[in-house]
Amino acid sequence: MQMPTQTLFINASQIVTCSGPPRARRAAELRDAGVLTNAAVATEGERIVAVGPQDQLEREHPKATRIDCERGVLTPGLVDSHTHGIFGKPRFEEQELRAAGLGYMEIAKQGGGIHSSVRDLRVRTEDELFALALPRVRRLAAYGTTTVELKSGYGLTLDDELKSLRVIRRLQHALAIRIVPTFLGAHEIPLEYRAKPRTRQEYIALVVDEMIPRVALEKLATFADIFCEPGVYTLDESRKILGAARTHGLALKLHADELEPGGAAELAAELGATSADHLAAISDAGIKALAASQTVATLLPGTMLFLGKSKQAPARALIAAGAAIALATDFNPGTSPTVNFPLMLTLAVSQLHLSVAEALIAATTNGAAALGLAAETGQLSPGFSADLALFDIGDIRELPYWYGDQRCRRSWARGNACHG
Ligand code: NIG
Ligand code: FE
Repeated sequence: MQMPTQTLFINASQIVTCSGPPRARRAAELRDAGVLTNAAVATEGERIVAVGPQDQLEREHPKATRIDCERGVLTPGLVDSHTHGIFGKPRFEEQELRAAGLGYMEIAKQGGGIHSSVRDLRVRTEDELFALALPRVRRLAAYGTTTVELKSGYGLTLDDELKSLRVIRRLQHALAIRIVPTFLGAHEIPLEYRAKPRTRQEYIALVVDEMIPRVALEKLATFADIFCEPGVYTLDESRKILGAARTHGLALKLHADELEPGGAAELAAELGATSADHLAAISDAGIKALAASQTVATLLPGTMLFLGKSKQAPARALIAAGAAIALATDFNPGTSPTVNFPLMLTLAVSQLHLSVAEALIAATTNGAAALGLAAETGQLSPGFSADLALFDIGDIRELPYWYGDQRCRRSWARGNACHG
């Protein structure tokens, strides 16, 4: 039997491990990201086998292939737990409408927003969507992301949702980055179900009776998500759809309290959802409910920035209450067309008032927890997946500091190169 390749990552100026219990971190646990100097990481095939003093690891692994980090900073690969990476055309025309004063929901009411991406995705083939998604996911990896969640949600018919999820499956085979698929058939009520003879109840029945069973049968998704927001899906509709998803073995996520408070965070906690995402408009009761639950509060500061809103999720209040927070890009063509995860760390520090350690743990360990992967990735510890990112900086505090820059030199997922 062939022995798995041993690799030793040496000569980093810092190794930031984020090591600790294999679950989401809260409160004071978020304060220390574990910065090591004169340290090395040893991997064997897909796994990390040791993290410790470089001279010791060099003695213990004499035959390992050396990767010289050239005084860069080595971190766990970033875990982007919320993206809508499967879409056709970009929607750059909407930014000027917003600049002229039109709101996100107003653009949607005029048939723009999600509906415009839906019209576009429906006329594209699976091959075409795959060809568009491939370089986009590579770009995400180029910024240090080694695990990415990808949602469907711009199809909104059985065939178009399956088409999107099959594109995700093909990406899983084509790329080294770890990809987690999410079914988001409840992203919107499609326009054709808003006027007679069709009703929104019929669309919800389609999601519950046909889409979810088929997605589960073909094992095309790990999670089901929903846009639970006043004007989109109500709390009762969300309960029904997510209940069906859970019955079919899917874990749950919610787009919750993004623009207006509506009790979606409370619902996420009640249903035991893996994460509740956005939360810019979460209520005090929502904060309490999340803090008392296992549900990860995933914050997406790029979305509020790009929509031109001054409001951001109350990250400090969430942390103070004891909630587990994660960060993600929300990469999508309408509200957050960025692949730059380190830029989210900048926004986390400058807009959400997080420390660098809090932001980094939220982007690694807690991102992994938001995908049910906290025992697999998100920290540099023995036994974990060999998911690493090497940045061209000398101190971890530079990662959010050089904002907008592309500092990731190389990254690996399961020991395989994702970037560089
Ligand atoms: O996370 N809020 C709903 N979904 C996306 C936006 C989708 C779009 O505008 O295309 C979001 O912001
Ligand atoms: Fe989203």
